[in-house]
Amino acid sequence: MNNFQYKNPTKILFGKNQLENIVPEIPENSKVLMLYGGGSIKKNGVYEQVTKALSNFEVIEFGGIPANPEYAILIDALKIIKEKDITFLLAVGGGSVIDGTKFLSAAALFKGENPWNILAENIAVQKGMPFGTVLTLPATGSEMNSGAVITRKETKEKLVMGGPGLFPQFSILDPEVVKSIPQRQIANGLADAFTHVLEQYMTYPVGGFLQDRFAESILQTLIEIAPKIMSDTSDYEAASNFMWSCTMALNGLIQQGVPSDWAIHMIGHELTALYGIDHARTLAIITESHYTYNFEDKKEKLAQYATRVWNVTEGTTEEKAKAGITKTTAFFQSLGIKTKLSEYTDRYEGTAEIISKRFTDRGWKGLGEHGKITPSDVEKIVKMSY
Ligand code: NZQ
Ligand code: ZN
Repeated sequence: MNNFQYKNPTKILFGKNQLENIVPEIPENSKVLMLYGGGSIKKNGVYEQVTKALSNFEVIEFGGIPANPEYAILIDALKIIKEKDITFLLAVGGGSVIDGTKFLSAAALFKGENPWNILAENIAVQKGMPFGTVLTLPATGSEMNSGAVITRKETKEKLVMGGPGLFPQFSILDPEVVKSIPQRQIANGLADAFTHVLEQYMTYPVGGFLQDRFAESILQTLIEIAPKIMSDTSDYEAASNFMWSCTMALNGLIQQGVPSDWAIHMIGHELTALYGIDHARTLAIITESHYTYNFEDKKEKLAQYATRVWNVTEGTTEEKAKAGITKTTAFFQSLGIKTKLSEYTDRYEGTAEIISKRFTDRGWKGLGEHGKITPSDVEKIVKMSY
């Protein structure tokens, strides 16, 4: 097992009616900016619950943060933070609203001239304006990690940021919110969380027995609850396991002491930036090609995954590893997610070259757990995904 240091300061309030416990989590006399998305919280009762719970605070609202949080819109929110002397941010939404809030937390205290540089220069944010979250969509794990992904339509960019100063102070996880989530977003959440685990697991063995078992148990839980939550979002047992699995998939725990990959995400972000494809679906497009292209490096873990997670017991290491890849694609498809780029856009020709050039222009020399996947490898992987 590799060395590691691990600290996760986010307090989790999990379960029914936890919003009732929000008041002591926000510093007294805070001036709160409540941030939300396109309006789902106004239809499912979450808006009323939150505003009622915050009745003792001075609250200003900022709605309209879109899926794949848009930089230009966030800059409007930043102006409000500065003009109104906001001291605490509350994100009410899914990964997009939470990520947008993380950007604002960083930008509010940023000393430089252009807040885009937080992303362009990938500045590690040591301190941000304090914020909490009320999660409405299990998927990204953003509610318990310190990363964010911000989109800029103008330049078709989607860049990552983060740092130890960007953990939420607290996150409220009430699985009852799952009831109102449309099936497309439930499928996305399952596929995103599943891939988060894979990115931190499908590398090479380093004797991290416990981390491997943690990862496999999250995958198994997601597989077990997927058909239940897809067919009935009001199944509280399935919803609560769905929610907690998504959080555990990307709160940093399972990646301690083991290598991680993240190439699928880095390539996937480009597909969202270019074509607006839902984040989780971009992952489903890239996964099979990435594992097939890098088969030699990953086959031991692929075989272990096939055996332990999918009960593939027959065959050589290579045969089991291949079965692991096929099972993964079939899992995405069982959620109604298409796994080829050409099923999302007719304009797929040339995509591989564009992405490879972007990586070269950004000076990215190597992705993956060995840091050896070059822009030219990325081009081949993307082509295999057409
Ligand atoms: O905007 P509203 O009207 O609220 O509707 C949202 C949105 O349209 C809707 N929704 C959310 N909760 C709902 C609901 N609809 C009904 N009932 C509810 N309870 O769902 C739609 C999608 O929401 P969004 O927040 O965009 O989804 P998700 O949580 O999947 O977040 C995706 C974003 O997170 C980034 C992605 O790249 C993408 O930009 N990621 C963030 C990560 C992180 N910070 O750690 C890691 C991930 O890998 C990912 O990259
Ligand atoms: Zn993801």
